[in-house]
Amino acid sequence: MILSIESSCDDSSIAVTQIKTKKLLFHKKISQESDHAKYGGVVPELAARLHAETLPKILKQTKEYFPQIKAVAVTTNPGLSVTLMEGVVMAKALCLSLKIPAIGINHLHGHIYSLFIEKESRFPMTVLLVSGGHTQVIDARGFDDFRIIAQTMDDSFGESFDKVSKMLSLGYPGGPVVERYAKEGDERRFDFTVPLQNSPKIAFSYSGLKNQVRLRIETLGDPDEQDKRDICASFQRVACEHLLHKLKKIFKTRRIKDFAVVGGASANLYLREKIEELCNGYGAKLHLASLEYCSDNAAMIGRNAVEAFEREKFCDPLELVSTPKSR
Ligand code: KG4
Ligand code: ZN
Repeated sequence: MILSIESSCDDSSIAVTQIKTKKLLFHKKISQESDHAKYGGVVPELAARLHAETLPKILKQTKEYFPQIKAVAVTTNPGLSVTLMEGVVMAKALCLSLKIPAIGINHLHGHIYSLFIEKESRFPMTVLLVSGGHTQVIDARGFDDFRIIAQTMDDSFGESFDKVSKMLSLGYPGGPVVERYAKEGDERRFDFTVPLQNSPKIAFSYSGLKNQVRLRIETLGDPDEQDKRDICASFQRVACEHLLHKLKKIFKTRRIKDFAVVGGASANLYLREKIEELCNGYGAKLHLASLEYCSDNAAMIGRNAVEAFEREKFCDPLELVSTPKSR
């Protein structure tokens, strides 16, 4: 079995995955969202302190598996340096005491493997990764063979939901609450401009849209609940139209048979519906992870680690380091 740890941001999570069957045997995640909500975003120092409290609590529940653990996998990048370190230090301690190797996992690769927690891995696939830190289209060709086709030039898709939510005082994380408000709003009330609409660039940009929303809120002065619903709906429509506009260009230039959406924001049902229509239009099969595995979790890290274990991609626990990298 492999024990995996995820602590790249504000979710403390540990999983145990059986190597031979790739079956998830144990998975627990404790989210810190409510602790960060009052600050309107993740406070790294607080997040690290909370990981230090919660990871050992979850680990205790996995003790029965210890004799059968053959390696410990941990997210080493990208992420917040102080929070990654909590997971890495725990992985080191476990590896040294159980005398087993470590496996460092890239968080973004982990998100791709969230698709395979309940099934066999399948490549090649074109993957849209939409999370709080990233917006990328990836040509996923196989284990460790991921090539970026397009990415954001500034803010990420999920981050723009968080910022709009903050501007409207709707709380953190913004994605789920903006989606909820949008459901009851008029998506045509505000005519925000679709970013990079006239640009041939295959890239994304969300900072301009965020500013359009900010200016609109300023003009409204003190938006009431219906104004907020309409802003959320109009913003969500344009944010998704931007993704769809650039994805269409990609679909036109590549023969895509299998397309997937992963990352925290792939839980957005409005986006899922739009992408489904896109895939149907191009005869591509759409792959999605279960809603519970879209946001950060250790199950996806464990699933990726099983593939790494089979390829003996081990690391000396003493040499295990987190390599946080901004996008
Ligand atoms: O993958 P994830 O859990 O963490 C990162 O790796 O960043 O993604 C979190 C991001 C946050 O920005 C959150 O607001 C966004 O995903 N998100 C959503 C939704 N649920 C989560 N964005 C839009 N709609 C949602 N329903
Ligand atoms: Zn993530």
